[in-house]
Amino acid sequence: MKIITIVGARPQFIKAAAVSRVIRATEGVKEILVHTGQHYDANMSDVFFEELEIPRPDYNLGIGSGMHGEQTGKMLEAIEKVLLEEKPDWVLVYGDTNSTLAGALAAVKLHIPVAHVEAGLRSFNRRMPEEINRVLTDHASDLLFAPTKTAVMNLRYEGIPEERIKLVGDVMYDAALFYGKKAERQSKILNKLGLKLKEYILATVHRAENTDDPVRLRVIFDALCEIAREIKVVLPLHPRTREALIKSGMYDKVASCICLTEPVGYLDMVMLEKNARLIATDSGGVQKEAFFYRVPCVTLREETEWVELVELGWNCVVPPLSVGGIADAVMLRLGSFKSIEENPYGDGHCAAKIASYLINTGK
Ligand code: UD1
Ligand code: UDP
Repeated sequence: MKIITIVGARPQFIKAAAVSRVIRATEGVKEILVHTGQHYDANMSDVFFEELEIPRPDYNLGIGSGMHGEQTGKMLEAIEKVLLEEKPDWVLVYGDTNSTLAGALAAVKLHIPVAHVEAGLRSFNRRMPEEINRVLTDHASDLLFAPTKTAVMNLRYEGIPEERIKLVGDVMYDAALFYGKKAERQSKILNKLGLKLKEYILATVHRAENTDDPVRLRVIFDALCEIAREIKVVLPLHPRTREALIKSGMYDKVASCICLTEPVGYLDMVMLEKNARLIATDSGGVQKEAFFYRVPCVTLREETEWVELVELGWNCVVPPLSVGGIADAVMLRLGSFKSIEENPYGDGHCAAKIASYLINTGK
């Protein structure tokens, strides 16, 4: 059986690392890895391949950045050529980026079965590019690997046939278990940044709705600067956010009050997350990792797809509408240390379940 895995953006390298390891250890399965080139800086791409020991991509399409239509269209064209050449039995896509949609669309038009990891997530906010990518990818897919019960319900509600939906858990939990110990052994980031355990807040900001809206961008960073007067704030800066801060003239002020770093590798990120007093983020993956490492989390968005974390009282969604609103929510939660046994994200064997379904599901 031949499986083509399509990745392109940072979180997809991490998810694919967990699944590829299992797929490649399975007899009779050949995986071909296609990197669209959506993320291309060394610290947004290469570092993950090296640290997570992901095999070199068989194809790097080198698409790079661009407007949604331009970027997705170029990917579609290039992926189609690879699929015609390789004639796989499955195309495996992850998450909700433009690389995900392009991979699913190219495959389904060629009548090649599509499997979607992280299916069924919904924010119900159609202005998010990710929401459109998810809905379209799910409806083009033959196997939908849902991470949570809520995701399964969302898919049922949209009329996806039951036999296509598989509740497998969250592949990022597999990754957290597998790489957590390695991070402890290898990462030197805490020393490098002079950080003391539980004496800093880790923040990440990269969502289009936060970076492309100058008012929101200012509210978020003014709030982080205010918080930084009380406790150190560390923020590995996504290139999109760096550009937005420079464009809005805020970069120098922000750099003077927050500890800004380049984007870090996954092992360093895990160490920063594990040892933070609190995490403030608009990232999907980072919200869950906060829970995996039992670090309180404030989500800087209007809504979240990972509703279980809010229901469990772990995550607090704070729409970035006012400086005081964010600063108060963060300061209030600094002292909250709950103990939660429940884990809505599976048993850490999500990748094995995915591999098994791919192998055993008739084409
Ligand atoms: C993309 C995904 C988002 C995901 C995020 C993970 C889409 C629509 N969005 O957002 O869902 O959460 O990846 O990080 O697919 N850039 C660089 N170097 C790089 C990559 C990007 O400088 O290696 C800059 C470019 O200016 C680019 C901008 O970042 O225009 C945005 O990159 P893009 O891949 O379009 O979207 P992300 O914001 O990274
Ligand atoms: N991440 C990382 N380095 C960073 C920021 C994030 O390794 O500087 C990891 C993070 O631990 C998580 C994933 O990237 O596993 C999340 O990616 P991102 O926030 O870019 O996208 P999202 O999950 O929101 O789609």
